[in-house]
Amino acid sequence: MVADRDELVEVTLKCPAKVNLFLQVGRKREDGYHEILTIFQTIDLYDELILRPGVSTSFFKSDTDLAWNSSNTLYKAFKAVEKHLGKELALEMELKKKIPTGGGLGGGSSDAAALLRYLGETFHIEREAIFEIACSIGSDVPFFLRGGTAIGTGRGEVLTFPGDLKGYSVDLCFPGIEVSTPLAYALLGRSSDRQELSNKEVEKLLSAFRERDLVLIGKLSKNDFEEPVFAKFPVIERAYNKLREKRKAIVTRMTGSGSTLFSLFEGMDGEYNFVTSTDG
Ligand code: C5P
Repeated sequence: MVADRDELVEVTLKCPAKVNLFLQVGRKREDGYHEILTIFQTIDLYDELILRPGVSTSFFKSDTDLAWNSSNTLYKAFKAVEKHLGKELALEMELKKKIPTGGGLGGGSSDAAALLRYLGETFHIEREAIFEIACSIGSDVPFFLRGGTAIGTGRGEVLTFPGDLKGYSVDLCFPGIEVSTPLAYALLGRSSDRQELSNKEVEKLLSAFRERDLVLIGKLSKNDFEEPVFAKFPVIERAYNKLREKRKAIVTRMTGSGSTLFSLFEGMDGEYNFVTSTDG
C-alpha cells in the first residue's frame, strides 16, 4: 500500500552537526558497545534534507556518492518507519551534504533523526517507537531527535538535558581522513575498562560553561579518543597542533571518534555557534 500523498508536504529539514565537549569511554559491555559519558552539543553547520511527496515509490538523490541501501542512515530510518507503519511511503528525498562524513560530527545520525522526527509527526507515531528506531540506527541518533546540549550515558542513548549552553562557538578543521568508529573503539584497547565514569566532572564542566570560567573549561574538557587516534593517524595530530598555534581558543579538541577537530571560543568568535534544542 502506498501512503496518501496528502499526508506529505514539501519541507526542507535542517540537520545540525554536533561536537562532543567531553567524551570519556568506560568498559566494553557484553553487547559489544562501550559505556560512555559525554556532553553533546549541536552547532549551526547543517545538512539539508528536502522532502517532497513522491509519485509511487521512494526516491533518493544526494550531492555526494551516498547509495540508497543499508549503508545509508536515511535508508535505514525510512525502511524502519515503513515497517512500523506496515505500508510503503511515496517520498522523494534530496540530501544536500555540508557536514563531512566520517568526521565525528554526527552528520549521518542527524540526517536520520531529522527524517524520523518528520515522519513521526506526520504519521502520529509514538515517541517511544521513534526513539527505539533511532537507537537501532546508531548510538548518536537519539540525541539528534532533540539536539541542543545533552549529557549522554549508556552507549550514548541515555540522555539528560541540563539546559542548553549559549554564547559559545567553534572553528572546525577536517583533516581530510575518515576514522571508522569501530576502529577508534578498538584502538582504546582495554584501557577504557579500568575507568569509572562519574558524572561529577561533567557537572563541574557544565557549571564552568555557565559561569564562563574559561580556564576550568580548558582543564575539564576531554576526549579519550585523542591519544590513540593521534598515535594511529599522525596527520590528525599535526592538524591539532597547527590549530592550537593558529588562534587562541579556550580549548582545542577532537570531536567524537574523529577526525574533525574543533577550537572553542566564547561568544561568536568562531565560525559555528552552539544551537539550542528543538524541544521535540
Ligand atoms: O552505534 P554506532 O552505529 O554509531 O556504533 C558503531 C560501532 O562503534 C559499534 O558497532 C561499536 O563497535 C562502536 N561503539 C561502541 N560503543 C559505543 C558506540 C559505538 O563500542 N558507545
